[in-house]
Amino acid sequence: MENTNIDWSNLGFNYSKTDKRYVATCKNGKWEKGKLIEDETITLNESAGVFQYAQTCFEGLKAYTAKNGKVVVFRPDLNAKRMADTCKRLCIPELPKEMFLDAVEQVVKANASYVPPFGTSASLYLRPFIIGSSPVIGVQACEEYHFRLFALPVGSYFKGGLAPIKIMVSDFDRAAPNGTGDIKAGLNYAMSLYASKLAKAQGYAENMFLDAKTRTYVEEAGGANFIFVTKDKKIVTPKSDSILPSITRRSLLVVAKEILGYEVEERKIRLDEVENFAECGLCGTAAVISPVGLIHTKEKDIIFNGDETVVGPVIKELYKTLVGIQLGEIDPPADDWVREIV
Ligand code: PLP
Ligand code: COI
Repeated sequence: MENTNIDWSNLGFNYSKTDKRYVATCKNGKWEKGKLIEDETITLNESAGVFQYAQTCFEGLKAYTAKNGKVVVFRPDLNAKRMADTCKRLCIPELPKEMFLDAVEQVVKANASYVPPFGTSASLYLRPFIIGSSPVIGVQACEEYHFRLFALPVGSYFKGGLAPIKIMVSDFDRAAPNGTGDIKAGLNYAMSLYASKLAKAQGYAENMFLDAKTRTYVEEAGGANFIFVTKDKKIVTPKSDSILPSITRRSLLVVAKEILGYEVEERKIRLDEVENFAECGLCGTAAVISPVGLIHTKEKDIIFNGDETVVGPVIKELYKTLVGIQLGEIDPPADDWVREIV
């Protein structure tokens, strides 16, 4: 069953083609029944809405081989809900939750040989997305849409796995108040590419974006939310209407409070108080929890744990507990967190 051509322990976060993907079309506001296909390419009209006005959104979630050998997916219902919320904001007919979950199940089953074995710390990344597929030339929503969910085996998003990363505060803003920061629209990522290129050229793995209105508060990174730990071991995360409601962050807050017994708080976090925190991490599906060792600001470099190469104890504990839940080694706070597929 297992694909023997893949070096599971040395996977990065790069595209590779797997056997089957799920596709469905929406016409006249109605999503038609989808199916699995082999073709990884898409042919579209040159004036399709996705090309002209970026009418596109996506999601990201992972399938794992659990300790008992079953293949499981972590909280896919929340991705289905977030995609529906994103659709609404982008004038895309909402993809029904049942269809999203059916696509997840069919694609994981059809590509079961690509699910990394237990203990490799790799996973099968699922990328659902929707594009406006019919031609438009005036600025307007499309009449037809294409939904697709494909899968690829991945390792860690940042080089070095659980090794702390260095990030910098960006001079650019990610999302405006009352804008699109809280949805998973492709346009939020297109605008982050230049900031990301500048950060990488200076040796930083990611950006910290600040609130666009006052440039005072911490928002999020290009592809993950922030989580901080105070010196008296309270878990604090930024509260903002213009950040993506991360499923990993929401799950971690429950895990921290209900399983590990930490006090947790969601509140506005000023950039000038970040140096008082003991630990910092980025959290997200791709990032899992990536410890942050250093944040470069205009005034100074903020170093956590007194040494930018050390992973803080609370971040480490959160990581182990979350991954333990995802791999079926630790009981989840609720039965529907880990969905068995095969
Ligand atoms: N923030 C941004 C901008 C992201 O792209 C992601 C990744 O999905 C996250 C946060 C983390 O969200 P989640 O934990 O749901 O993957
Ligand atoms: C994810 O974590 O699934 C994302 O979509 C983030 C992206 C930067 C890879």
